[in-house]
Amino acid sequence: MEAVERAARILREGGLVGLPTETVYGLAVDATNEIAVRRMFAVKGRPASHPVIVHVGDASFLDAWSRQVPRVAHALADAFWPGPLTIVLPRSERALDVVTGGQDTVALRVPDHPLALEVLRAFGDGVAAPSANRFGHVSPTTAQHVHDDLGPDVDLVLDGGPCRVGVESTIVDLATDPDRPRILRTGAVLATDVARVLGVPVGVPVGLVPGVPMDGGDPPPPPEEMRVPGTHDVHYAPRAGVELVSAEEAGPRAAELDRPPRRRAVLIAPAGVKAPVLPPEQRLNAPSDPDEFARVLYALLRNADALAADVALVVPPAASGLGEAVRDRLRRAAGGGRRA
Ligand code: TXA
Ligand code: MG
Repeated sequence: MEAVERAARILREGGLVGLPTETVYGLAVDATNEIAVRRMFAVKGRPASHPVIVHVGDASFLDAWSRQVPRVAHALADAFWPGPLTIVLPRSERALDVVTGGQDTVALRVPDHPLALEVLRAFGDGVAAPSANRFGHVSPTTAQHVHDDLGPDVDLVLDGGPCRVGVESTIVDLATDPDRPRILRTGAVLATDVARVLGVPVGVPVGLVPGVPMDGGDPPPPPEEMRVPGTHDVHYAPRAGVELVSAEEAGPRAAELDRPPRRRAVLIAPAGVKAPVLPPEQRLNAPSDPDEFARVLYALLRNADALAADVALVVPPAASGLGEAVRDRLRRAAGGGRRA
């Protein structure tokens, strides 16, 4: 296919390609080309200390990019690749400092999207690809989002349609101790999925207890204390301030924002949620199914910005399935406040 060949050629020449994956669109560059990686960082406006994921065509690349691939890494690759799981391993010499942020580990993933896989095969090596948005902004889930965010700074955007998953991949750390895997970022592959395949308990970030609602009383203590490297508190944020509300709080909070000093609110919630003060154009319907919510999450936040909202009031989905990842991204967006 001509577009695939063109993308592979641009990558070989050190260019930037907007690449569809099943999670979000990536901003792809040749991971072995330091100048190309630096250009990608500059275009994103991303701090150089922030490591990026290396995308490969299949699990046979594990040994090229990691000096020490534990058996559990192969087990996870067999179970979930291609798919929305990123595996952190001890890096090999192939993994440049600019890619790993100077850390001794590298994050690897085989994306599950036909176009991405064709490009990776045609290119033949690892492609470093963060989400194709300006740093700190919400991730893109359509080719148009990539154009909107990065415009002429990207050499080619492949249009693979809207992303099937809609939130970034799950990241699992096997570098610290392969016998004690830890989830660093939630996504479509759940901690319970990883635990089932490996037959061991899996650590999850502090404050994240799968299946326990955010505002539903005292959660039990998390399985393990852990730091989440490279995860900024303010992240995934639209320009509008994000406020998480329950279905019952939505109406009263919208009314409060409608009083002086008036702030323009947009409500992102399932159709049944009442907020009589808001005109229909300031309501964005969100699916009540958590997996469907994930698919449209970033488009909804972008729509809130397009409607010039000061505040996006969001009723989050239940914590089942992809709901936990959606709630995680919303909590981070809520930490962001209004951004210029
Ligand atoms: O679904 C995804 O993962 C998307 C698509 C494009 O594959 N990519 C993505 O990349 O979300 P980005 O750069 O927006 O997020 C990468 C995350 C960051 O939180 C970074 O800290 C973490 O991966 N990461 C990368 N290398 C790491 C490493 N060696 N150790 C720990 N975390 C790492
Ligand atoms: Mg990102």
